[in-house]
Amino acid sequence: MELYIDTANIEDIREIAHWGILSGATTNPTLLSRESGDYDQIICEICDLVGGPVSAEVMSDDAEGMVEEAKRLVGLHENVVIKVPMLPEGLRAARELSKLEIKTNVTLVFSANQALLAARAGATYVSPFVGRLDDIGHDSNAVLTEIVEVFSVNEFSTKVIAASIRNPMHVTQAALLGCDIATIPPAIFRSMVKHPLTDKGIASFKKDWEDAQSRA
Ligand code: G3P
Repeated sequence: MELYIDTANIEDIREIAHWGILSGATTNPTLLSRESGDYDQIICEICDLVGGPVSAEVMSDDAEGMVEEAKRLVGLHENVVIKVPMLPEGLRAARELSKLEIKTNVTLVFSANQALLAARAGATYVSPFVGRLDDIGHDSNAVLTEIVEVFSVNEFSTKVIAASIRNPMHVTQAALLGCDIATIPPAIFRSMVKHPLTDKGIASFKKDWEDAQSRA
């Protein structure tokens, strides 16, 4: 499973990109609204930092407007992928954009049938939101399992991005269930890398080494 970073914060992306484990990034209007500066410039900088697909969302209500926005956004950088909402107009836009060979990420997906529609519209990626499903008492694992299975038995090339990741277990589950990608907030990456036994082990190795050096 590939790992994307789910933020528009340049400092966080720079830090995690240095670990050498990122394949891409996803943004959304809320994430961008938390940053200051020119949004186009932020998107370009993220593209350069991650060196892979970077989702940027369109905000028009109709397919025509979404396609126009998409044409402008893909002009910013070759890594830009267009996020369109899971709506009839978003599906129409995904279909038009696939004809233009512009990559799309259908976002705000909460069911296998929505994912099926997005795949049939020619989406490059679908983004089921696991955290928001769990928030309302639904079983996000069941939904991910269905989507992965539907795509597998139908031999769809559309990739599944587990999004709205809220804790490290969401990442493990997405990997176990066969998602292609998980898009992960910076704080969750920091939780994933830590383990108290790792810290304890490093401290004791260091102490034993230093003791041996002082005896030599
Ligand atoms: O990638 C979508 C994600 O940003 C949504 O996350 O935490 O707002 O549900 P959240």
